[in-house]
Amino acid sequence: MGEPPWWQSAVVYQIYPRSFCDANGDGVGDLEGIRQHLDHLVWLGVDAIWISPFFRSPMKDYGYDVADYCDVDPLFGTLEDFDRLLAEAHASGLRVLVDWVPNHTSDQHPWFQASRRSRQDPKRDWYVWRDGTPERPPNNWTASFTQSPAWTWDDATEQWYLHLFLAEQPDLNWNHPEVVAAMHDTLRFWLDRGVDGFRMDVIQCIGKHPALKDVPEKVQSIPYCALNDDPRTHALLRDIRRLIDSYPGERTSVGEVVLLDTRQVASYYGANDELHLSFNFPPLYAPWDAESWQKQIARVEAAFAPRDAWPTWVLSNHDNPRHRTRYGSEARARAAAVLLLTLRGTPFLYAGEELGLEDAVVAPDERLDPGGRDGCRAPIPWRAAPPHGWAGERPWLPWSPHAETRNAETARADPDSILHLYRRLLAVRRQSAALRWGAWEALPTCAGVLAGLRTHGEDRRAILVNFTDEPRELALAGSWTVEVASHGAAGERYEGALLPDQALVLR
Ligand code: GLC
Repeated sequence: MGEPPWWQSAVVYQIYPRSFCDANGDGVGDLEGIRQHLDHLVWLGVDAIWISPFFRSPMKDYGYDVADYCDVDPLFGTLEDFDRLLAEAHASGLRVLVDWVPNHTSDQHPWFQASRRSRQDPKRDWYVWRDGTPERPPNNWTASFTQSPAWTWDDATEQWYLHLFLAEQPDLNWNHPEVVAAMHDTLRFWLDRGVDGFRMDVIQCIGKHPALKDVPEKVQSIPYCALNDDPRTHALLRDIRRLIDSYPGERTSVGEVVLLDTRQVASYYGANDELHLSFNFPPLYAPWDAESWQKQIARVEAAFAPRDAWPTWVLSNHDNPRHRTRYGSEARARAAAVLLLTLRGTPFLYAGEELGLEDAVVAPDERLDPGGRDGCRAPIPWRAAPPHGWAGERPWLPWSPHAETRNAETARADPDSILHLYRRLLAVRRQSAALRWGAWEALPTCAGVLAGLRTHGEDRRAILVNFTDEPRELALAGSWTVEVASHGAAGERYEGALLPDQALVLR
């Protein structure tokens, strides 16, 4: 038995390229900006980066509307810039995942332009077209963001086309073998270039029943993308998995499965022959309290363990308010970092959470995103003095609060900063087999405190998280030393007491 694959013990760091760092002064982050900050990631101690889409795109959904899967949008640089970034990341020991958006393309993609041209076009059936009258869409599905029908009427060819997101993001028809082949080619393009894997956008939506039946009225207002759960996707994923696994070097995939039942999420690992990893969002939506987290963890263990599926954990990303903002204080964000980095599974960090960034306050007339997600996409402040290490004067979105004190430069100079806490946690994780691979066992606890034990062979760690803003007492059997404290002293014997909002790793 060798070691488990790298992606089970890795910590993955998500980069939203528009917001990471602007090297050319146009106000939008770029690939060169990422390259210039690889040293931050190496110093921090993450293992891999996932870069949100940087492909050619009209940017109606800021890159999740792809017009060419095999080229870099000029806003972000060139393919040569990507190759250089990849080579330097690899040389510094970082793996690189790119974002694959298979459910839909941009309406500006040449495939859709052809499909739209006429009903007879050979690419007509690459997308989902249906007859009807302009008054009545073919079914009752709701699109994300707009809360309106997931269909747009095309006057020229007098049919409707399906889009689970914006009208500028038509859904591909994965029931068509040519679509499957063309999309496999896009995976090969990046695998051949040397990427270590993919984050797969709304992956559970690709397989659809061709009947496209109405959903029950009581769920009609839920965007259809959060409802689609069809056996066809599993078959498609088995082919995708075979393709990825045929490459040397443990390439991987992490699917965005937008379903709110953790058992359904787990089913997308198949029998270890579908996704390598999948996001599981219910914990991201859970409130900051011990009882809901105990439930979330138990649910993951119950759904994942029987399939031998490896969980993931994520608290923030480019689609949701940051957890620092949701939980309401830095003390909680620090405790959450301890939790995120010690649960059983692969943690995903969202750039800026290691700086304790809050969402930016975006005035109504500065809002850009059709889904209202601008706040969590604020630019990353690298330096204390404005423009905070960005090349231009004004980035595409406002800064998050307190950028003059909450930035990478200031945080790095302060050994007590949240940045140093993340770095300590990552270092401790790296050295502990229990934290990387160990089982999770819930420990008896008191109200408001989550307690768990990670064990792998002889190696053990106890994790305690006080979700309340009051001191708590919790005795543990045996003798334990505080290895990492979210705040307060480390290196001392654990005496059975937790400070308000405090989380501890004990060994
Ligand atoms: C995913 C992405 C989100 C995007 C949507 C449509 O949920 O994370 O940013 O808008 O898919 O591609």
